[in-house]
Amino acid sequence: MRVTIFGASGLLGKALLREWSGDTLTGLSSRDADIRDAKRVRQVVRETRPEWIVLAAAYTNVDGCESNPDLAFAVNRDGAVNVATAAKEVGARLVLLSSDYVFDGKKNTPYETGDRRNPQSVYGRTKAEAEIKLLELMPDCCVARTSWLFGIGGKCFPDTILNLSAGRPALDVVNDQRGCPTYAVDLAHAIAQLCRKNTSGIVHVTNAGDCTWFEFAQEIVGSAGLATTVRPVSSQQMARPAPRPTYSVLSPVRLRALGIEMPSWRDALRRYLEQRQLTI
Ligand SMILES: NC(=O)c1ccc[n+]([C@@H]2O[C@H](COP(=O)([O-])OP(=O)(O)OC[C@H]3O[C@@H](n4cnc5c(N)ncnc54)[C@H](OP(=O)(O)O)[C@@H]3O)[C@@H](O)[C@H]2O)c1
Repeated sequence: MRVTIFGASGLLGKALLREWSGDTLTGLSSRDADIRDAKRVRQVVRETRPEWIVLAAAYTNVDGCESNPDLAFAVNRDGAVNVATAAKEVGARLVLLSSDYVFDGKKNTPYETGDRRNPQSVYGRTKAEAEIKLLELMPDCCVARTSWLFGIGGKCFPDTILNLSAGRPALDVVNDQRGCPTYAVDLAHAIAQLCRKNTSGIVHVTNAGDCTWFEFAQEIVGSAGLATTVRPVSSQQMARPAPRPTYSVLSPVRLRALGIEMPSWRDALRRYLEQRQLTI
């Protein structure tokens, strides 16, 4: 199978290139093809003749999206439409990476794939509108929603916590936002399986289990054997430009129905820490 990956220089893109074997992959960064440029997108898709496209390219700075909404919509929604249009022209299938931020976070049980979108941030709106437009344009498109991504080769929460812990006796971390951490390696394996299984429609792909950022930080510090104290604080005490959902646990029901099981986030964190040790 030929697969073209947009966003190959990102956290997930790098994991896809490292982990995906047995197929012919082409990885593209924004320098190879800016997805806002419909003509260039069409050209690279024609050249690479993919059977599947993985669209992992996005403007992912959630707070930056609040102050640059035009850029956020141009990349995340309109750029996604450019990729889907080009995919359709060559008969390629498409996986769009989307986010738990399409939900408002007001539930207290896991979000199912069919639950109503109600994004609270600009980033969440760009992703929700991309999902809607792509599913209209290409009904057999696969929308893979994920959350709290971490991995080697980019900025991520565990890396930040470990770096901060090195210089401080205590860290304050929010304890009123609950979600599912997701290791880029496990997500990459799941995406390859989704393509092989010819999946269409919305699917939630995260590591199993959930936690708050505080609980995640505690596990990171404890597993790394650091003496730093992690203190729970509220989101109000750590105000940021973009609102975050209070609860954004994504239900794995559809993923399991497809025969795909994800490891627990604690197991994923342990493997991440081992890998990080080898790379620093
Ligand atoms: N990170 C998370 O916690 C999280 C959570 C839920 C969903 N997601 C979604 O998962 C996907 C992958 O996220 P990630 O964390 O791997 O992202 P990332 O590390 O921020 O990487 C973003 C990628 O998008 C590319 N890109 C940005 N603007 C572009 C443009 N105009 N044209 C073409 N490429 C462009 C970047 O290319 P350059 O390097 O060349 O700039 C980079 O390869 C995204 O769709 C994101 O929205 C992420």
